[in-house]
Amino acid sequence: MKKYFVTAAVFALIAAACNNSSNSANNADSSGSTTAVTPKEDDLSSNPDYTKGLALVTSNDCFTCHKIDEKVTGPAYRDVANKYDNTDANVKMLAGKIISGGSGIWGPAAMTPHPALAEADAEQMVKYILLLRNK
Ligand code: HEC
Repeated sequence: MKKYFVTAAVFALIAAACNNSSNSANNADSSGSTTAVTPKEDDLSSNPDYTKGLALVTSNDCFTCHKIDEKVTGPAYRDVANKYDNTDANVKMLAGKIISGGSGIWGPAAMTPHPALAEADAEQMVKYILLLRNK
């Protein structure tokens, strides 16, 4: 009986060790799968504001008009990050524009409103965008 428990414990340890290594491999894969939209700063990938915000931006329509480093219809997110300091006031202000729509700051094109977005989600997206500022 004792032997059984020892063996079970050893198997549990091995399983845990395997899980850990396959998890980290999965993490690497999942960040790799977003390469089209992932900026160079690898250190950001452990920042929850970055990962949560990126997930929200990815699951909404944002990337149809925005890219990280290139102006499309909307400004490059890196340019937005370089323009605004990462303060609570700016996060709230920009989140408001995502929800209500924006125009007149970056050029003639207007950003469509996103009235279905929760304010907290919009703020989380802005936090992600503002982390893209060039150091
Ligand atoms: C239909 C195209 C379009 C979509 C979709 C879109 N944007 Fe925009 N976005 C724009 C344009 C155009 C501007 C520039 C508006 C201006 O000049 O004030 C802009 C500006 C911004 C700004 C900067 C606002 C400012 O006042 O400086 C942020 C932040 C932003 N968008 C985030 C987002 C996020 C997050 C999403 C997804 C929820 C999103 N955008 C979806 C077109 C879009």
